[in-house]
Amino acid sequence: MAKIRLDKLLAHSGIGTRKQVKKLIKKGIITVNGKSVRDTGMIVDTSCDEIFMGNEKINYKEAIYIMMNKPRGVITSTYDPLERTVIDLLPSEVTALNPFPVGRLDKDTEGLLLITNDGELAHKLLSPKKGVVKKYYAQIEGFVSEDDARAFEEGITLEDGYRTLPARLEIIRAADVSEVYIYLTEGKYHQIKRMFKALGKHVAYLKRVAMGSLILDENLKPGEWRELTEEEVISLQRLVM
Ligand code: URA
Repeated sequence: MAKIRLDKLLAHSGIGTRKQVKKLIKKGIITVNGKSVRDTGMIVDTSCDEIFMGNEKINYKEAIYIMMNKPRGVITSTYDPLERTVIDLLPSEVTALNPFPVGRLDKDTEGLLLITNDGELAHKLLSPKKGVVKKYYAQIEGFVSEDDARAFEEGITLEDGYRTLPARLEIIRAADVSEVYIYLTEGKYHQIKRMFKALGKHVAYLKRVAMGSLILDENLKPGEWRELTEEEVISLQRLVM
């Protein structure tokens, strides 16, 4: 993880866009270990190379953005003395960057989990003001009806008296075990399970499939992960700008 293209490093350090930093490099004002460089694609090693723009040292903190298909049975936490956490599923070169999960999925919930060390982006994605939509697929014991969908739209009063914000319930298949999509803009503790409980129904299976513009990669099996593409990161950043 320590090796990175010079133009990417400068762009990630807030110097400018890729295009702007390429121009700066070509002007010759960037030095690596005291030598002026003009190769925008030069590979530098963030653990030992010293990079300057004129007299200004570039302090690079590598940002990491991971999409995980969280499996059942692990908890969404950075550390736990007893239970296996989502961070335990990552290799040491990733955990060395101190990533943390953005929001929480229950131990028995699967699906999309963003893990990053970008505190600013995480904060914005979770902010109720931004209203980022989380999409879930669920299997519900019992026949889910349009009345249930209307209740989701109107807001449901949970057992503790909290009234949920308007949410969308899309019925894929109404049957003994119904299949639905749920779209939420908030993330209260056990929210979906408690919403269905208030309607007298039980969630048998729950999986998050999207968070804002970020869609779970179907190639990832439960427990697998990959880094976000640059496009995916930019699209999330734009969403909460
Ligand atoms: N709602 C729940 O009940 N559980 C989750 O993990 C996410 C949303």
